[in-house]
Amino acid sequence: MSYQANDKRYDKMLYRKVGNSGLKLPAISLGLWRNFGDDIPLTTQKDLILKAFDLGITHFDLANNYGGGAAEQNFGFIFKTYLQDYRDELIISTKAGYHMWDGPYGDGGSRKYLVSSCDASLKRLGLDYVDIFYHHRHDPETPLEETALALDSLVRSGKALYIGISNYSVKDAEAISHIFKALHTPFIINQMKYNLLERDFEDNLKALTNSEGVGNISFSPLAQGQLTNRYLNGIPEDSRISRKGALTDAVTFEKNMQIVRDLQTVAEARQQTIAELAIAWQLRDAGVTSVLIGASRVSQLEENVKALDHLTFTDAELQAIDTILRQKKGQ
Ligand SMILES: NC(=O)c1ccc[n+]([C@@H]2O[C@H](COP(=O)([O-])OP(=O)(O)OC[C@H]3O[C@@H](n4cnc5c(N)ncnc54)[C@H](OP(=O)(O)O)[C@@H]3O)[C@@H](O)[C@H]2O)c1
Repeated sequence: MSYQANDKRYDKMLYRKVGNSGLKLPAISLGLWRNFGDDIPLTTQKDLILKAFDLGITHFDLANNYGGGAAEQNFGFIFKTYLQDYRDELIISTKAGYHMWDGPYGDGGSRKYLVSSCDASLKRLGLDYVDIFYHHRHDPETPLEETALALDSLVRSGKALYIGISNYSVKDAEAISHIFKALHTPFIINQMKYNLLERDFEDNLKALTNSEGVGNISFSPLAQGQLTNRYLNGIPEDSRISRKGALTDAVTFEKNMQIVRDLQTVAEARQQTIAELAIAWQLRDAGVTSVLIGASRVSQLEENVKALDHLTFTDAELQAIDTILRQKKGQ
């Protein structure tokens, strides 16, 4: 089973600096939260991962709990079979912070949990180290110093190269950032939900990460598929909603679909699809280092990477988008 990566893979993708660090991430990264568990054929997973790499997507994002551990296991198998020779061209991240195993040590932010979980992730992935290790969410029951020191020790012991946080409030992000600074921990990235329909990131976290010199990677940039043409004519049987259940309540979903229909006009005028528009809209902002997409088929990856063909927006386009979002949200 051999694989030769596309020799044009670096021609089109953009690579952007992560905050003040020396690391660059592709403008589009691939996450393995959905579509990489044991419910999806391994050949589909392999096709997605290898296609992503062929398109210049060098960053794959995982977590201990994706697919209950199966995503790490499956990625590990695909990596070992096809991508080992490319290890130095890959940024592989994982996380711990949500419930992973029973008992008092399988959840949260304690040193006990984070170190054991990182070891278990490395075993499933078949790796000596991950490039980025994230605390998946703040744990109010653990002092931030303990969490920060545990993450710092993962770097010092060679199990992770860089540290990130995810789903932290502005206050907790600021506090842990200051601890990391004192420890000289390579804390370089924040992972947060951000898309055209959910813009909380813009309120304060964006300013904080900017002032702290930390990069940002946005998850669910397509609102799990709502910001695409996926649901414009109903709910397809093979979609995430059919497989995993509703993404939001019915009223919000209908409101979102109205927004998407209106956004389609702006997208078409830019000769883009809605997904391309949604990705480009985020990347217009240098504060967003990378957009962390999911995909269930190769054609989605191909479409999403086309966003890079048209990243600039006129003031009139940005205004039109803001007006659509404001009107439909009833603000
Ligand atoms: N830190 C955290 O707490 C957290 C939370 C959530 C996610 N994440 C990370 O973010 C990653 C991405 O999240 P996400 O999967 O919600 O991202 P997303 O990009 O918003 O949604 C991905 C889904 O959108 C649909 N899609 C993608 N491109 C499409 C296209 N061109 N046309 C039509 N449909 C398209 C597919 O749905 P179908 O499956 O229906 O085809 C795909 O599975 C995750 O894998 C994970 O790594 C992190």
